[in-house]
Amino acid sequence: MQKKCAYESPEMIKLLGTTLRPGGFELTDRGIEVCQWRSDQVILDLGCGQGATMRYLNKKLGIRSVGIDPSEKLIQVARETGDDGDYHIGSGEMLPFDDDSFDGVISECTLSLMDELGTVLSGVHRILKSGGYFFITDVYARKPELVVEVKKDNFRSCMRGLYGLEDIKQQLVKNGFEVVKSEDHSERLSQLMVKIIFEYGSMGIFWQKTGGACAAHFQEALKKCKPGYYMLIVRKVV
Ligand SMILES: C[S@@+](CC[C@H](N)C(=O)[O-])C[C@H]1O[C@@H](n2cnc3c(N)ncnc32)[C@H](O)[C@@H]1O
Repeated sequence: MQKKCAYESPEMIKLLGTTLRPGGFELTDRGIEVCQWRSDQVILDLGCGQGATMRYLNKKLGIRSVGIDPSEKLIQVARETGDDGDYHIGSGEMLPFDDDSFDGVISECTLSLMDELGTVLSGVHRILKSGGYFFITDVYARKPELVVEVKKDNFRSCMRGLYGLEDIKQQLVKNGFEVVKSEDHSERLSQLMVKIIFEYGSMGIFWQKTGGACAAHFQEALKKCKPGYYMLIVRKVV
């Protein structure tokens, strides 16, 4: 059975707008501040969705970034903005770019959607120039020992591929990165949940509208993992 992508659903787009993640551009600004990206650099937006961050980087810093996302629907929306972005349909597990070709990589609420984290991290390491920054925001499990139940569901939201934060850091280090900044921003996720409950009545109704039949078990398993939200900035060191 084909996995569902909740981020293509009209409910999700209506709720989140152009930035399909908790926290909008505020965390992106934290990344820009630490990574000090400039207009002559090339940045990849991994899981670019509708291209909102690419347009933001262009407007704010004059950066012409490259975006990749497996969703033809979201890439079409991005292209229809007429922003002249360099969009590719593809996945993080198979990056179609040359070695050492990017000064920075951004992944906002996308890593947890990818099936093979190790493959993705080694691919990001390969395409980054030495010293290049990898900026990540995403959900994580504050009770990682209970993640196994969530992963049983065939439901494609960014809550599905949860890890504990220490586990993610270890995998990054194993793949040749050093951790530069690690921050907890779980309040962003809580704010989003409050907004969902306000608009839909309950998380359950929202998940059903975006994900379908498996949502009840998914929701129960998810709650037990205590999802939080993190920002990590790492740098390619070897
Ligand atoms: C929560 S949305 C975030 C989109 C965008 N980064 C933003 O913040 O607006 C997750 C995105 O990850 C994409 N995605 C899912 N699986 C992926 C994969 N294997 N490789 C790259 N992107 C993926 C989805 O299509 C979706 O656009």
